[in-house]
This record gives sequence, structure tokens and C-alpha cells, in this order.
Amino acid sequence: MTAPLVLGIETSCDETGAGLVRGRELLADAVASSVGEHARFGGVVPEVASRAHLEAMVPAVDRALATAGARLADVDAIAVTAGPGLAGALLVGVCAAKAYSLALGKPVYGINHLAAHIAVDQLEHGPLRPPAVALLVSGGHSSLLLVDDLAGRLTPLGATIDDAAGEAYDKVARLLGLPFPGGPPIDQAAAAGDPAAVAFPRGKYRDQTFDFSFSGLKTAVARWVEAREGAGLAVPVADVAASFQEAVADVLTRKAVDACRASGVDQLVIGGGVAANSRLRALAAERCEAAGIRLRVPRPGLCTDNGAMVAALGAELLAAGVPPSPLDFPADSSMSVTSVVAAQVDEPGQYG
Ligand code: KG4
Ligand code: ZN
Repeated sequence: MTAPLVLGIETSCDETGAGLVRGRELLADAVASSVGEHARFGGVVPEVASRAHLEAMVPAVDRALATAGARLADVDAIAVTAGPGLAGALLVGVCAAKAYSLALGKPVYGINHLAAHIAVDQLEHGPLRPPAVALLVSGGHSSLLLVDDLAGRLTPLGATIDDAAGEAYDKVARLLGLPFPGGPPIDQAAAAGDPAAVAFPRGKYRDQTFDFSFSGLKTAVARWVEAREGAGLAVPVADVAASFQEAVADVLTRKAVDACRASGVDQLVIGGGVAANSRLRALAAERCEAAGIRLRVPRPGLCTDNGAMVAALGAELLAAGVPPSPLDFPADSSMSVTSVVAAQVDEPGQYG
């Protein structure tokens, strides 16, 4: 029997994603981004993002279907990011998913965006056999989680107490005159720089918790750049980018490896937009190998927001027999990582 075809819809921030997954096979991943419309504001403007989602939503789904050679009527279930994210942006995807669900008479899962960042790795590296530790690093979140069951049991081990890693990248890029979003240009600039040029602070490095702090690092970069400019000297962008990136990758990988050790777990999954970072990937590989930990990181295109990750988690929930969400489930901008699915129902008959 072939596995069910799941349509995944993602609109939590500035990417409109529509993905199609059958079991753990990725069939299509259509992404439209409104990032260009936000660049001059130095950050995502929620209202602009919502309007862009409205325009891009149906064409993205149609593109995904065309790529997969499937028709809408072939879809067996729909999964959509219910949270966390920008409220207005989430609503566009949630309303679209409910409309498809109602029109097709197929179940809909309102899923957690953070759990989807972990689930997507299975499309590339096959089934994840828990337990594992997950390091989630995106524009809005930096956390370490214990994964006992992707379809239901995620336990927070620690999280950032201030800025998220991606947020620090975006802010530091701005300080260095690099475009938004800051991750990719810093990653590129760092390739030509010396990571030991400036000894930037590593927040909470030795504090024995699994929490992170990046605001002190961001402030240290700002002070360093100001001092340099104040002295009439040019700012060595590549060196600052490389040194900043080293500090971020050092803290993230050290705490992730420590979390594996403390939990007695020998698998680490890294997900979220910052997982696309070349230095984070390289240092994680090095440190995991030294510690005997199996590392799983999806390819960069699957780390940043997309619809395939949502479909991947939807397929996982379906396979695990988790009941779908009620048609009145809300978009929840601050959805906790401990709830993988929005408000479950016991009577799946309502979709009949
Ligand atoms: O997961 P994501 O696409 O959206 C959220 O859920 O937030 O993550 C976006 C974040 C942005 O802050 C962006 O600067 C960062 O991921 N990012 C990177 C890289 N590519 C994207 N950070 C570091 N290096 C990269 N190569
Ligand atoms: Zn994300």
C-alpha cells in the first residue's frame, strides 16, 4: 500500500511554502519568499508578509502539485504551521489549509513549526529513531530539546534567554552594513576572514545550563565596530563576521554536545535557518565525531522555512495515528514546542 500524500503549508514568517510528501519521500517543495520586500526595513514587516502570503499561497500549492505530477484530489491530508510565528502570516496558511481540508473532505493537522524543522531531516536521512537531542536555531528561536517521539514528546532542555541566534545574525549584519537577512551574507563574508581576529564573548558558555544568550555578543560587536569607527579606522568586515560566527557556532555546538552527554543520547539533529550556516555545520560535525555522536543536519535548502518540513511532520503524525486538528483550531503565534499538534479532536468522523 502506498503511503498517504500529504500537502504541507508554511506561512509563519516571510516564506510561503507548499510541499508534498509521501511517507518520507519528498515529492515537491515550492517556496515563494517576500524577503526582498522587507530588506529595506531591516526586518520582516508583518503586514507586508501577510499580503505577500495571500498572493503566493494558491500559486505555490499549484506549483508543488505540478512538480509532483499530482492533482489536488490526490491529497490525502493537509498539514499547516499553526504556530509559532507572525499571527497575521500564520492566519493566511491556516485559512488556506482549512479551505483545502473542507473542499477535499480530508483531515488537517495544525502543526508546530519548530517540530517540523526537526522532522524535515527524515526526508533526507531516513527515519529518526529516538531518543535524540535537537538543536533548533532560527530567526525567532534557539533551543535544545530532547526528542522522545517526534509525533508527540519533545522536552525543552534549554532556550535562549534573549536574542535568537538568527536574530543575532540579522542584527550584526545590519551593524556591518550587510543586507537582510543577515545569515547568508555573514556566512559568505566570514569565509574570507580570520575567526580568531576578535575574541568576542561566549554568553553562558560554562554556566552548566542548556540556555543561550546572544544579546551580549551582539552588543560586543556593536561596541567593537563603534570604537573602530570612532578611531577613524576601517572596519574589517570579513574578520568581524568570522569572529562573530565562530562565537555563535562555538556556544551552540558545545551546549548541544553537552546536552547529548547529559541526556545519555548519541544522536543530534540540527534544524532551523541557522542550521544552513557553514561554520555551524562544520564545527558540529567535528565535535560530534569526537564525542561519538551521530549528527543529522538537513541540506541548507531544507533548513530555512519551507512547506516540505510541514508535510514531513504531517506524514509522521498520520503514520503514528495521531488524530487531526478540529476545523476551528487557532493560529497560535506563541505555540509552545511541547504541543506538536494544535488542539486535537477525538472524532475524526467530522471530515467524512
Ligand atoms: O528557520 P528560518 O528560515 O525562519 C524562522 O523560523 O525564523 O530562519 C531564518 C533565520 C534568519 O535569521 C537568517 O539570518 C538565518 O536563519 N540564516 C542563517 C543562514 N541562512 C539563514 N544564519 C546563519 N548562516 C546562514 N547561512
Ligand atoms: Zn523556521
